[in-house]
Amino acid sequence: MIIYFSGTGNSEYIAERLGELIEDEVINLFDYIKNNENRNFNSEKPFVLVAPTYSWRVPRFLTDHLKKCKFKGNKNIYVIMNFGDSCGNANKYIREDVKSLGLNYKGLYGIKMPENYLALFELDSDEKNREIVKEADIKIEKAAKIIRKGLDFEKKEIKFQDKIISGLVNNLFFKFIVKDKKFYYTDKCIECGKCEKECVLNNISYEDGKPKWNGNCTHCMACLSKCPTAAIEYGKKTVGKERYLLKNIIEERK
Ligand SMILES: Cc1cc2nc3c(=O)[nH]c(=O)nc-3n(C[C@H](O)[C@H](O)[C@H](O)COP(=O)(O)O)c2cc1C
Ligand code: SF4
Ligand code: SF4
Repeated sequence: MIIYFSGTGNSEYIAERLGELIEDEVINLFDYIKNNENRNFNSEKPFVLVAPTYSWRVPRFLTDHLKKCKFKGNKNIYVIMNFGDSCGNANKYIREDVKSLGLNYKGLYGIKMPENYLALFELDSDEKNREIVKEADIKIEKAAKIIRKGLDFEKKEIKFQDKIISGLVNNLFFKFIVKDKKFYYTDKCIECGKCEKECVLNNISYEDGKPKWNGNCTHCMACLSKCPTAAIEYGKKTVGKERYLLKNIIEERK
């Protein structure tokens, strides 16, 4: 059973593609997290968690949610993280997290995907992103082969810098950077309500038909990227910039 969360479509793409290759069920955790519904997962085949990287680790809200779920059947779990650049020393933390779920950790596999963090970084062009997805397709196939054979994912070499970014920097990042105060809507807002629906943490409510951010944000970029009129901005950083959603690139590729 493949379980995933995805803010802008990258993890979803990997999970769906992997599901086809290993002929396994694919479950989007979005509704469960949004509705605070803890699930009993039951799978004959190994579990596979597919997640984006947030500050060189599996997103905290995701591991917090998984710790409230139950896993029955197969005892093995593979973890596939995707990132714009690297997942640092995420292995150390997710290994401990899955052990606490009573599961046998089969290792971490990293896949480079398009960067989606528009609130902080410059994103690549669609053309470059399509190249990145092509490379990722090959890596997904390799991961599928390993999972089918029941082997462990190979261990990656961890440098001192990886330890710092996944440890100290991750803590500082969530304490000081992951805030929603810089989000606002512009007069392009058509009061469609999509941003409220797309927020996995129910952080967006309405006042007089307009969105309001309520201080419990994980910076997943879903509200900003999925607004149909690009009415959501984050400070000055996002103004005039194209939003990123993987499905836009894939549709063009067809
Ligand atoms: C809050 C946040 C933090 C991120 N941190 C990292 C990071 O530490 N390293 C990295 O290479 N990419 C980082 N990224 C990029 C995403 O991990 C990457 O684009 C991922 O493929 C997005 O997956 P999704 O579309 O399934 O949400 C970050 C993105 C966001 C929104
Ligand atoms: S998704 Fe965009 S247009 Fe729709 S309510 Fe939210 S800000 Fe307004
Ligand atoms: S407010 Fe926006 S960026 Fe923050 S968690 Fe919700 S959808 Fe993601």
